[in-house]
Amino acid sequence: MNSVTVRVPAKVNLQLAVGPLREDGYHDLVNVFHAVSVFDEVTAVAEAGMSVRVEGEAAGQVPEDDDNLAIRAAQALAGHAGRPYGVSLVIRKAIPVAGGMAGGSADAAAALVACNELWGLGLPLDDLLEIAADLGSDVPFALLGGTAVGTGRGERLTRLEVGGTFHWVFALADGGLSTARVYAECDRLREAGGERADRPRVSGALLAALRDGDAKALGAEMVNDLQPAAVTLRPSLARTLDAGRDLGALGALVSGSGPTCAFVAGSEAHARELAAALAAEGVARAVVVAHGPVPGPTVV
Ligand code: C5P
Repeated sequence: MNSVTVRVPAKVNLQLAVGPLREDGYHDLVNVFHAVSVFDEVTAVAEAGMSVRVEGEAAGQVPEDDDNLAIRAAQALAGHAGRPYGVSLVIRKAIPVAGGMAGGSADAAAALVACNELWGLGLPLDDLLEIAADLGSDVPFALLGGTAVGTGRGERLTRLEVGGTFHWVFALADGGLSTARVYAECDRLREAGGERADRPRVSGALLAALRDGDAKALGAEMVNDLQPAAVTLRPSLARTLDAGRDLGALGALVSGSGPTCAFVAGSEAHARELAAALAAEGVARAVVVAHGPVPGPTVV
């Protein structure tokens, strides 16, 4: 085999509870991840040396050197195997870059799965999850897919039962937001407000909404502690969120560190109507309809 293509989904965070800043610069989280049907594709071709190329609209927005998380994933996997493997990676992006939907983490997870196959390593998921945790806090979930709760930095995962399919509308923004900057702004806002961050806890009501497949209850329970920081850094997001709520979304929140906004709808038809209405409001660069949960990286 000299070429493997993997399709990998984006994520939205249904609950993102952020604890106090830790000594190591990270925050303890309760992070309910949900994989949605917005996909990147990563093709790995056997070659001497390591290279990466990004095709399509996102070309030029993603580094094509050792800063690229997918190349770092391939290097980490070759290091784990202890062999000088080579690969040429091609990434076709639909997941917004620096959009709060874990696109870089998704590409890294796809690269791990593709190279594991290409190089015939046959490593089990548990080994890939360990390598993933060193690459970034969201990479382990990107390998898992479905719906799961992450604790620690977000890398310690437990799969969650979901009683149905949820329908989503995503409002994509112009430009990205730096995750590190949004966390720092969250700390700054808390300090300025004299607010002490509590130990994060998973919401029982949110878990029940997921188990019941109840979109209305889910919409009411979704919370993102990074949202005030993302809206402070990008004030136009307040208008996007308000527009979605006014147009009948069952729930609205910033996805992860933003600036993508996520809206939950009651059905696929409702999601399409909401997407059309949001696009007409002109409060987003682009509007995308999706559903979740979907499986993690899949060889195509
Ligand atoms: O783990 P990752 O490299 O994706 O994290 C990017 C940045 O997000 C970190 O450098 C840190 O500033 C912030 N972060 C955090 N707490 C977490 C996860 C990420 O403060 N649990």
